[in-house]
Amino acid sequence: MAQVQALGSCRKFSGWSTQRHCRVLPSSVITPFPPPSHRLRISKSLSRQSSYSQQHRRSCFSVSTCRLSGESKDPNNKKELSSGDAIKLKWSQTSPRKTQQCRSSSVGVEAFQEQARGLQGDGTITLSREEEGESLPGSEPAQKDANQSAPGGHDFQWAENWYPIAVERDVRKELPLAVTILGKPLVLWWDRNKREKGQPGGWRAFLDMCPHRLAPLSEGRIDEAGRLQCSYHGWSFDGDARCQSIPQAEKEGPQAAAHSSPRACAQPFPTLLQNGLVWVWLDPATADTALKRPPPHVPEMDDPSFSKDLVARDFPYGYDFLVENLMDPSHLPFAHHGIMSNRSRAGPLRITLRGENPRGFVAEQHPQGKADFSAPVLFTQDINIPPKEKDAAKGGSGKKIRLCFWLTPVSPGRSRLFYAFPQNFVTWLFALIPRWLLHIRQHSILDSDLMILHLAEKRLQREGGGTDNWSRAYFMPTAADRYIVAFRRWLTKHGGGQPDFGPQPEPAPTAAQPGRMELMDRYESHTKHCSSCSKAVRRLEALQKGLAFGSVSIVALVSALASGGVVKAQAYGPYALLGALVMAVSAFGLKGVIQKFYVEDYIHALVK
Ligand code: FES
Ligand SMILES: [Fe+2]
Repeated sequence: MAQVQALGSCRKFSGWSTQRHCRVLPSSVITPFPPPSHRLRISKSLSRQSSYSQQHRRSCFSVSTCRLSGESKDPNNKKELSSGDAIKLKWSQTSPRKTQQCRSSSVGVEAFQEQARGLQGDGTITLSREEEGESLPGSEPAQKDANQSAPGGHDFQWAENWYPIAVERDVRKELPLAVTILGKPLVLWWDRNKREKGQPGGWRAFLDMCPHRLAPLSEGRIDEAGRLQCSYHGWSFDGDARCQSIPQAEKEGPQAAAHSSPRACAQPFPTLLQNGLVWVWLDPATADTALKRPPPHVPEMDDPSFSKDLVARDFPYGYDFLVENLMDPSHLPFAHHGIMSNRSRAGPLRITLRGENPRGFVAEQHPQGKADFSAPVLFTQDINIPPKEKDAAKGGSGKKIRLCFWLTPVSPGRSRLFYAFPQNFVTWLFALIPRWLLHIRQHSILDSDLMILHLAEKRLQREGGGTDNWSRAYFMPTAADRYIVAFRRWLTKHGGGQPDFGPQPEPAPTAAQPGRMELMDRYESHTKHCSSCSKAVRRLEALQKGLAFGSVSIVALVSALASGGVVKAQAYGPYALLGALVMAVSAFGLKGVIQKFYVEDYIHALVK
């Protein structure tokens, strides 16, 4: 019966997706379509309009009337729809040729898809209450105050925000660093002449472009006076971006004052240091606003009772896929099987949205704890571990880990993640385990879904453009995807669907389609910028060379001594060979460890 209903319903749709859906599913798992009871989110459009049409895949539905059960037909006597109300919809399917007309509808596609799935044979649909405590779109946020100094609202300006650009401990103060954020090429450098909070020195960020002939300042150096010097013709800039020296200028006459021209200035951006990260405000024109609106702060990152390690990693997929992935606890048992979870642990997740507004959303995963998205850069998920009974009786408090993800848009198809998991238990572990060893393990986790995300992003692009293409392409029927829905809704409603990279964002480093190993590269995306890993890999490579050299030398030395009659070959030969063998095997073993700093593949099908 279920199968008949499913196929029968499918015939109402001319879209290929629906047909394919029916053919692919084995009959044992086909459920009645549409489902007998279906949750519908109330959209503002639905409550204000009495008729509309919309595209569903390649089919169009025209809904001619929409009214409460028992409500009069008088258009002047309409009530607002609310949760729990039953409504009557009269609808008809129209030709796919009317796609254009459907697209121009003002009704949210996501809302309509929900409605289309819920349409019953008699044209009745029931609005049912969402999970208790969840805030419906358009309702008042439960915990966050929408009237706070919101970063955007409907006119969200991506550049008018703080973005983390580097882990402070990993930036070498003697070297300028090239960083691209939101399509803007920047140079970050340490200005030892700056005084910040009474301390000498401070971070400076300029547009990575010399005003002379546009050479990248990140290829420059810190000169003897502590200024940033362009390496092309030697112009030098102080911490306020003023040009202080043009070596080619005459000492007398009009050229002598050329360095004080406004056109000789570099372009500075506000910076600050918080939670171990260097932050930059990307719109210099609104620097005053930057001072009034600091970046979101994570108290645990500055609390000495929490241990933590802050890490950076670049990815070959865009900001939206990065955010989705880190808000998605349900992928852990599969995408990270055998590394941090196990396929057998998969199951329903209880996630409740508590509030959505222009600043992001607040939600909760049960029983782990609260989640918070402070748009556009910070997502945190609390994991509260209650105390054992005997500890609770003694008044002991529970343990806590806070998963912190700082998410940055680099350029289209590129993103950068900063992450830390401050925890208030087993804090000695971080002092015991070398930082680079932690990073190697975390790379395995991050790499095991890298290809999936890189390709899924391309699939979404294939599904067509538009700020809400996700709502046409995704089918997310379970509570496990609630964070994703809330994030996508924020991005569509407030963020314009995608980060605003400006008219000409810095192009991705590789023009050609990179291969699998290039995509999974760890050296460029992490190791070379990480103080711990770069030092570790240098030392391991030196040790490897030493072992290889020692292995050959020991055999050569004993052979020479034996042939000269200094030692007996029978007495020392076996020891020399054994020593050489141990060294050679160790050098070979190190090769595998060193490789982990460069690249390592993860093939899901081979992980048992
Ligand atoms: S381009 Fe920088 S000094 Fe010439
Ligand atoms: Fe590292």
